Amino acid sequence: MASNGKMKALVLSGGKGSRLRPITHTSAKQLIPIANKPILFYGLEAIARAGIKEVGIVVGDTAQEIRAAVGDGSAFGFKATYIPQTEGPLGLAHAVKISHSFIGDSPFLMFLGDNLLKESLNPLVKDFMGKKPSAQILVAKVPNPSAFGVVELNGDGHVKRLVEKPAHPKSDLALVGVYLFDKSIFEAIRHIKPSARGELEITDAIQWLVDHKKKVITRPTDGWWKDTGKIGDLLEANRLIHETMEHSVHKDAQVDSASRLEGRVVLEAGVRVVESVIRGPAIIGANSHIIRSYVGPYSSIYYNTTVENSEIEHSIVLEQAKISNIRRIQDSLIGQRVEVIKSPVKPEAYRIMVGDSSRIEIP
Ligand code: DAU
Repeated sequence: MASNGKMKALVLSGGKGSRLRPITHTSAKQLIPIANKPILFYGLEAIARAGIKEVGIVVGDTAQEIRAAVGDGSAFGFKATYIPQTEGPLGLAHAVKISHSFIGDSPFLMFLGDNLLKESLNPLVKDFMGKKPSAQILVAKVPNPSAFGVVELNGDGHVKRLVEKPAHPKSDLALVGVYLFDKSIFEAIRHIKPSARGELEITDAIQWLVDHKKKVITRPTDGWWKDTGKIGDLLEANRLIHETMEHSVHKDAQVDSASRLEGRVVLEAGVRVVESVIRGPAIIGANSHIIRSYVGPYSSIYYNTTVENSEIEHSIVLEQAKISNIRRIQDSLIGQRVEVIKSPVKPEAYRIMVGDSSRIEIP
């Protein structure tokens, strides 16, 4: 592990998650599992690998759940400090502002808890410590820049302008959810006003640094990056993580002789596979049962779930769900304790009990 005594990290895990409702009505979007690991953990592990020992975690309404999952940080190798954003999700710069006493005068890495990155943070941290700018931002080319903070560069590669979610973007370079700052960001935040959407934008604070001739540098991402705010992005992130997974069957998983595991399949402890085919890449979580079913590529089935007499592919299923007698589910995100069942009872009609803001597509 790299050693980095001085730098701290700030991980933003508050916010609303409105685009992933209903899953996020009751639970934190940062804890949705991708290949059976909460999104947030990928970022926390990368921070730990960068040698950062003190991590502040900004939390909102879902504070309890985040605390229960991350604990004191010792499982990751750092000390976690929780910073409640009690006033509500008033913006990324607001989250930084309320973290001032935790950060003090230290340089820090800010990581958006719903972002997923392939690359290591180590070279980025090293670059920042060497060049000592006021801010270093990670950028990536995207096909839909108006969904992000957008960076416009001068001909010489310096930052000219940053705009949050512009209707008419001047470039296709998006701000990735990883930023490095020195203490001058606090001064910048003192000078900005809430944006049209009512948030204190970190993009505006960085623009203030640019306008006041502070050194702001960019670094392109090498490798993929996903903001997991929408279902399509979650499924894509799931696919990208599956590409990196190795075949592994826990010694306490049982696969009967009528079943077949094809390709890279991960079975966690207590899994039972009966008269089924699992075609990888796929992962089945602890104590889940797959019975007379087909589980296809890019499926992530979390723990204590049952799939019986069904087919599922390219989907994320959360814990304690039950899927029974369904011919095929694909491209889906199924929440905790959800039951999707074909009933033998007549009449042959859809009988639905489903939460607010859900979406059901029926052919
Ligand atoms: O993903 C990259 C984008 O992230 C950047 O391109 C944008 O410039 C940046 O503003 C941000 O945009 P989003 O609209 O995607 O941010 P979101 O509201 O999803 O919040 C990002 C994370 O920060 C998420 O884990 C929730 C957390 N958060 C957000 C707000 C507004 C907080 O903890 N507190 C807050 O007040």
